[in-house]
Amino acid sequence: MKYRHAFHAGNFADVHKHITLIALLQALARKDKGFLLIDTHAGRGLYELGSAEARRGAEASSGIGRLAPAEGQPPEIGDYLRAVRELRQEVRQRDAYPGSPLLATRFLRPQDRAVFIEAQIEEHVALRRALRGHERVTVEHGDGYERIASWLPPIERRALVLIDPPYEDARADQQRCTLAAAEALRRLPNAVVAVWYPIKLERDSNRWLEALATALGKPLLCGELWLHPRDSRAGLNGSGVAIVNAPYLLEEGMQTWLPAVHRSLDVDPPQGGWSTRIVG
Ligand SMILES: C[S@@+](CC[C@H](N)C(=O)[O-])C[C@H]1O[C@@H](n2cnc3c(N)ncnc32)[C@H](O)[C@@H]1O
Repeated sequence: MKYRHAFHAGNFADVHKHITLIALLQALARKDKGFLLIDTHAGRGLYELGSAEARRGAEASSGIGRLAPAEGQPPEIGDYLRAVRELRQEVRQRDAYPGSPLLATRFLRPQDRAVFIEAQIEEHVALRRALRGHERVTVEHGDGYERIASWLPPIERRALVLIDPPYEDARADQQRCTLAAAEALRRLPNAVVAVWYPIKLERDSNRWLEALATALGKPLLCGELWLHPRDSRAGLNGSGVAIVNAPYLLEEGMQTWLPAVHRSLDVDPPQGGWSTRIVG
């Protein structure tokens, strides 16, 4: 596996995925009962936007680098920016960027638990270091797709499963995502399952989303943000998160914060867009 998330940390897809993750965690926290977060592809947890890897593609400059606190901003964006700012103060690094584990742990309550799984040993070791001292958190070295079965159903009977693969081999990750999401729902039918996916050619991602919804037998709430036309061959045109068992009012929230994120991140003249829709 060649994929290193350090090259992409803080890019527009991370911004989109991480605000969605925060909105999901906050929605689950509306009930007192605790839940289990399973982050199947956790990464190293803490990134340096000034590192050689991050500077190579300068992807953060068109992501987190374009988003600033503003009056009247939707709370999801404010909460995300506050979490990034507080992390930077804690680690005393102005260019630090939190991956999904370091962001998520900021939104967990004492009654919640989390497991973060990472397959690459160097990334796993770095993540273990970054999460040292966190309680109610397990860090595993392994295959995130396979580990789902060991963690579900949890004693809390509530879970959020985040599946965020690299899609280096897109078809293989799509197939494994489908099987893993199906297994999660078989073990815990009310699990909230969120699958991140790249939008390169729109018709390909749409075809897969239809197949995923059919295989799961459940509708997907898909939130998408794109910065390049979705049928161009620019590379990563857009970012999507497909959510099964989406919490109440999540889509309404997206319809407020997604256009605000889009306005901040899109180039001039705008080429991108945003959408929420139900597939299946
Ligand atoms: C897109 S990155 C994850 C980013 C992270 N979720 C975040 O938002 O900060 C994908 C990660 O999955 C890891 N990975 C790839 N295949 C895996 C597998 N089968 N199980 C667990 N981790 C895997 C990669 O090493 C990489 O660190």
